[in-house]
Amino acid sequence: MSKSPMRVAVTGAAGNIGYALLFRIAAGDLLGPDQPVIIHLVDLPVAMDACNGVVMELQDGAFPLLHGTKVSSDLDEGFGDVDIALLVGARPRGPGMLRSDLLRGNGPIFTAQGQAIDANANEDVRVLVVGNPCNTNALIAKSHVKRTNPLNYTAMTRLDQNRAMAQLAVKSGVPVAEIANVGIWGNHSPTMFPNYFDATIGGKPATEVIGDDAWFASEFTKTVQTRGKAIINARGKSSAASAASAAIDHINSWMTGNVTGDFVSMAVPSDGSYGVPEGLIFSFPCAIPEPGKYEIVKGIELNDVSKAAIAKTTEELVSEREAVSDLLG
Ligand code: NAD
Ligand code: LMR
Repeated sequence: MSKSPMRVAVTGAAGNIGYALLFRIAAGDLLGPDQPVIIHLVDLPVAMDACNGVVMELQDGAFPLLHGTKVSSDLDEGFGDVDIALLVGARPRGPGMLRSDLLRGNGPIFTAQGQAIDANANEDVRVLVVGNPCNTNALIAKSHVKRTNPLNYTAMTRLDQNRAMAQLAVKSGVPVAEIANVGIWGNHSPTMFPNYFDATIGGKPATEVIGDDAWFASEFTKTVQTRGKAIINARGKSSAASAASAAIDHINSWMTGNVTGDFVSMAVPSDGSYGVPEGLIFSFPCAIPEPGKYEIVKGIELNDVSKAAIAKTTEELVSEREAVSDLLG
């Protein structure tokens, strides 16, 4: 018997990431090749014409799994009965800016969206915040939740994981499919910690395979931490197709259990593990024990380097939380 369609809302649907994301959702990359979808394109009133144009293109793609679309600038309508909410709509940073410079401008978007999702979406809606600064924006949205599950409010660090895996593949000269267990810890910012100590290449510790501790501690770490800025400097605008692809990966792993290795990186509400304050939206290595469910991986041994890096990124997230205390529900 064919499955009932799932509803997927994408905010910022007329933007750069939206354009790269919508066609992959329609093609079945988000929820699997047998899962029909109805896509809700949500954006500002000024972007409604552009959204309608994208809908024409979605229709012209003749995607067998696309069972409908809805275009709206009204949040109650846009999030009505949705199963998945991809919160992309927000300003991107430009050259010379930090992601945290976006906090006061973008933060309020997530107050209204958290409230509208909580009031209108399915009770077990899964939420992924992509709009920056994504960890703290997800914290804002989650703080307004009364009916939906606060644990389902997450932010995206899968792009950072993918970037780290690609660096390891290039350095060791193997396909990226050989790389596993690269956990991103903390904030989607230059303080993030790409934990190479657990990473494996062809099932062996990456540090042994590459055998260059200085490269891991300096070039590898810095490249992953500052890749977003390098792309802005090169392209003049922020990553779009790779960000869309990582959003697909995040939800696909979560909802289908499709994970290479033991874990994937997701920024999720901390349960206090590893000394991270409870409730902070913090990227941890997460396992998917069954489709639709994630668990923070416990018992990872942290050395002094890891502990210091995790303390630094925690401190930054705590100060971001203080900076938006007036936006928290
Ligand atoms: P963009 O400027 O091309 O598009 C943004 C879209 O969002 C526009 O269509 C705009 O009209 C819409 N928008 C703005 N405010 C809105 C609101 N309140 N409700 C609904 N829609 C709204 O930007 P982009 O390149 O698509 O990037 C979007 C966001 O994603 C930025 O904040 C960017 O920094 C972030 N980003 C995050 C990651 C990550 O790894 N977490 C990666 C890349 C980009
Ligand atoms: C990225 O990492 O590419 C995005 O967060 C965009 C940015 O501002 O760096």
